[in-house]
Amino acid sequence: MNIDDIRNRATTEINGAISLDELKEIRLKYLGRKKGEITLLLKSLKALSDEDKRKFGPQLQEMRENIEQALVFKKRELSEEEDWADVTLPGKRPEPGHLNLITQTETEIRRIFNSMNFSVIDGPEMEDEYHNFDALNIPAWHPAREMWDTFWIKTPDSAKKKYLLRTHTSPVQIRYMETHKPPFQIISPGKTFRYEATDSTHETNFYQLEGLMVGKDISLAHLKFVISEFFRQFFSNKNVKVRLRSSYFPFVEPGVEIDIKLDDSDWLEVAGAGMVHPKVFKYAGYNPKEWQGFAFGFGLERLIMVKYGISDIRLFNSGDLKFIKKF
Ligand code: DAH
Repeated sequence: MNIDDIRNRATTEINGAISLDELKEIRLKYLGRKKGEITLLLKSLKALSDEDKRKFGPQLQEMRENIEQALVFKKRELSEEEDWADVTLPGKRPEPGHLNLITQTETEIRRIFNSMNFSVIDGPEMEDEYHNFDALNIPAWHPAREMWDTFWIKTPDSAKKKYLLRTHTSPVQIRYMETHKPPFQIISPGKTFRYEATDSTHETNFYQLEGLMVGKDISLAHLKFVISEFFRQFFSNKNVKVRLRSSYFPFVEPGVEIDIKLDDSDWLEVAGAGMVHPKVFKYAGYNPKEWQGFAFGFGLERLIMVKYGISDIRLFNSGDLKFIKKF
């Protein structure tokens, strides 16, 4: 019984095969269930003495496995080649990624405010207590601090200076005023963080968009115009109504809540705003007798949810492809 001879013959034939059909023939010739050369050899083992069975059995099995393997490899190789062979077959379309809806919307909002001569400013996501709270007229003892559930950050010098993940984009107002002279108008979109339970309208990690305009004789009328123009463009809708409702935020006086109304739907609260508080101007190093300004802050996801009819804020971070591919 010349096992090596069969192995060599079979392997040479397999390697030389140029089509899947030919490979099938070779498989049949050696491993066919009825007349395969190796199959017959394995069957003939039965007639041998126990001693010969022990000798040839394992060698034959091993050879059979080698041939099986060689067939599998060659089949893979030939299948790939045959796939390539017909270049007129329709291709598999690669699936490119795309920008997340939040990024798309942010870009659109930047464009709208740019058209009204606002600049776009960045600020740090890790803030210090001073910029996130104190300079916005929210000292440590102020009950309003409870409006912002805060992620505090432990640092080696926490006792001297406290850091946190910014709870709103308002600290960018302070940072910008510290280094720039009025008049100016800016927006600052970015991530914000709150230590609170999540549900369909609350996330621990969400986006805000801050706005600030400072100059001579700036009034709530300017705020109302800028905001109305923004919403008109954002919703591509001449019928969007805007109303200012009296409210309270420590860093503005008077403070307002901005509501919008689209066509036949109800009034929706979408932003906080107001006239920059004199104390905030003082913290920033401005003379409040000389300058006036308005500020506003939107929740970005909220605006997107209203625009696209999305009912759960948690979808934005879910990685749910059905949701992502829709936009
Ligand atoms: N920072 C406020 C918040 O996170 C929103 C806000 C209210 C921003 C009034 C403003 C403002 O600039 O004037 O709830």
